[in-house]
Amino acid sequence: MKLSHVLWTIAAGIAGLGAAWAHGGATGIVKERMDAMTEISRNVKLVGQMLKGNAAYDGVEIARAGQAIATHAGDAMIKLFPEGSLKAPSEASPSIWNEWTQFSGYADSLQTSAQSLKGLAEQGADQKAVAAAFGKMAGTCKACHEAFRIKK
Ligand code: HEC
Repeated sequence: MKLSHVLWTIAAGIAGLGAAWAHGGATGIVKERMDAMTEISRNVKLVGQMLKGNAAYDGVEIARAGQAIATHAGDAMIKLFPEGSLKAPSEASPSIWNEWTQFSGYADSLQTSAQSLKGLAEQGADQKAVAAAFGKMAGTCKACHEAFRIKK
């Protein structure tokens, strides 16, 4: 390979890296699940702001957010974790695949709790009941992250 060609290849490689890092460096399935988690998190924050009284309470919006979270949970979430998908900058723990039953159980219980949040908001349940369902749902995020997400 000619030197000019080698330099060109390196330059192209670095440019490629730069583009990837602009998106946090994640690619492929790792990026897909980070995007899904970010979308979940956006909906959780929206509801959290309402329940904290920092935004006007809107049951219709909460039901929509609950549905959005449920859509990304359960099987949809599990599918984003094919065995061994730990490519940097993933924060996923390798123990996910040793403790798959527990991991997928968290994904399922997130779906169930997001659906019950949605149901309560839709029925116009009082804010206390909605907040309790929200707390239960948020507990699932925390439990799964404590077990299977590693701060790197
Ligand atoms: C079944 C387990 C599980 C559940 C349930 C779960 N997460 Fe996660 N979450 C993870 C794992 C594992 C990662 C790390 C993924 C990676 O970096 O490859 C993660 C990453 C994230 C991230 C970081 C995304 C990024 O761009 O790096 C956010 C934000 C997040 N989760 C929010 C939430 C919220 C909010 C909930 C609950 C409503 C939730 N997650 C429920 C396992 C879970």
